[in-house]
Formats: sequence, C-alpha cells, structure tokens
Amino acid sequence: MSSIVVLIGGAKGGSTKTTTSHSVCLGASLHNVPAVCVVTDPERKVRGEGRPYGVLDGRLPDQLARILTLSKDLMSHGWTIVDGAGNRPEVDKVVSEVADLVVIPFRPSEEDVDTVGKDLNRLPNAFAWPSAWPVNAHAERAAAFLIQGLELQFPGRVLRPPIPFVNSVGDLLAAELTSPSTPTRTLAKHAFQTLRDKYQQLHGGESPKETEGTAAVSA
Ligand SMILES: Nc1ncnc2c1ncn2[C@@H]1O[C@H](COP(=O)(O)OP(=O)(O)OP(=O)(O)O)[C@@H](O)[C@H]1O
Ligand SMILES: [Mg+2]
Repeated sequence: MSSIVVLIGGAKGGSTKTTTSHSVCLGASLHNVPAVCVVTDPERKVRGEGRPYGVLDGRLPDQLARILTLSKDLMSHGWTIVDGAGNRPEVDKVVSEVADLVVIPFRPSEEDVDTVGKDLNRLPNAFAWPSAWPVNAHAERAAAFLIQGLELQFPGRVLRPPIPFVNSVGDLLAAELTSPSTPTRTLAKHAFQTLRDKYQQLHGGESPKETEGTAAVSA
C-alpha cells in the first residue's frame, strides 16, 4: 500500500488550510500513524523540528512533483498531507488529480460558502469541510443553514463533523509542537479520524497501519 495523499486546498485565503493540515498530521501521530505535512505556500517557512510528524518543502513545483511521486511509489504507508497555498487553482488541480482525498475547509460565512462552491465545481473529487465552526449551541444553529445550503447544492460533498473552533489551535503553528494543549490534541485526533473514515468509505480495504514508535514517513 502506498502513502495516502490528501490535499487540503481551496482558493480562499485564511480558510484554515495550514492549521487543518497540521491538525491532521498531529492527529495521525497521536494514532501512531506516520504522517508528513507538505508545505506548498511560497510565503511560508518550512520548520519540521520539534514535531511528531515530518514537514517537507514542496514550495517549488519540481519539489512538489517529486514528493508526490515518492509518496505514491515509494512510501509504504502513512499519510501525506498537502497544505495548499490558496489562490493557486493550477496547483490544486494538479495535486487533486493524484490525491486520494481532497478537502476544502471553509469557515462559517456566506463568502466562504460561495468560494468553496466554486472550488467544488472546479475539483469534482473534492469535499467541503466546515472549519473553525461554532461550538456553542446558539451560534451552531445559526451556522447550520450554511451547511444545509451547500449540501443541497452539492449532495454528499460536505464532510462532517465540522472542525470545531478552538482558541488554542495557534499551538499547531508555533515554532515547536512538543506539548500541544488538550483541546488541540482532541481536535487533531477527531480531524484525522474524520479523514480516515472518509478515506475508508471511498476506497475501502485496508486501513492505514498503526505503528509503534516513530511517526515520520520515511521514503
Ligand atoms: N479550528 C480553528 N479554530 C479556531 N481558529 C482557527 C482554527 N483553524 C484555524 N484557525 C485560525 O484561523 C487563522 C487562519 O488559519 P490558517 O493560517 O490555517 O489559514 P490558511 O487557509 O492556511 O491561510 P492562507 O490562505 O494564508 O494559507 C489562524 O489565525 C488560525 O489560528
Ligand atoms: Mg496556509
């Protein structure tokens, strides 16, 4: 079995792509599943030290292509999470064609829903994933219509449950990730589980191996 490649993409800036990518990688490592996060944003630094998962530099097209080829052909298991850069539809398109799962996070606003709808039209294998979603009952009820509207327009293409709004997720992008807070760990485990369930629903078969010890993918 080759590595499972997931694109966390979408055109909108600030939609939580990077935070969600790192959440999923942390969640994988908390489940003892190897994971790497692939940075594609030219504006973002690549810092892999002090993390329980790998971070790879895919900022140049050649580097990204090589990582994707290695993930597909050489890595025996684990998850490769590609953090999209926003406003680069051509990169989303290319990666989505080789990815096993494509998710587009969107925040609870009409504008975000409009943009994610365009992404779903452009990327026929993509799922929209509500993110930084309100958790208090009143606000959650107020936001639910956004999910319902999108689901009506794109049946079966809204991934659930949403990623909750958690104040401490900033932890994930700190210089080191040695002791994330409990809410961040809980979010991360659930985020990974949501993707794993979706992957199994789509592709069936063997689940990604849980391993003892190291959580970094080796090529
Ligand atoms: N689940 C969450 N709960 C609360 N805040 C969140 C959550 N996920 C992300 N955020 C916050 O949203 C902001 C934008 O997140 P992030 O940088 O991950 O978005 P992005 O889509 O990668 O942005 P860009 O398009 O610039 O790459 C950050 O301040 C981050 O802390
Ligand atoms: Mg980002």
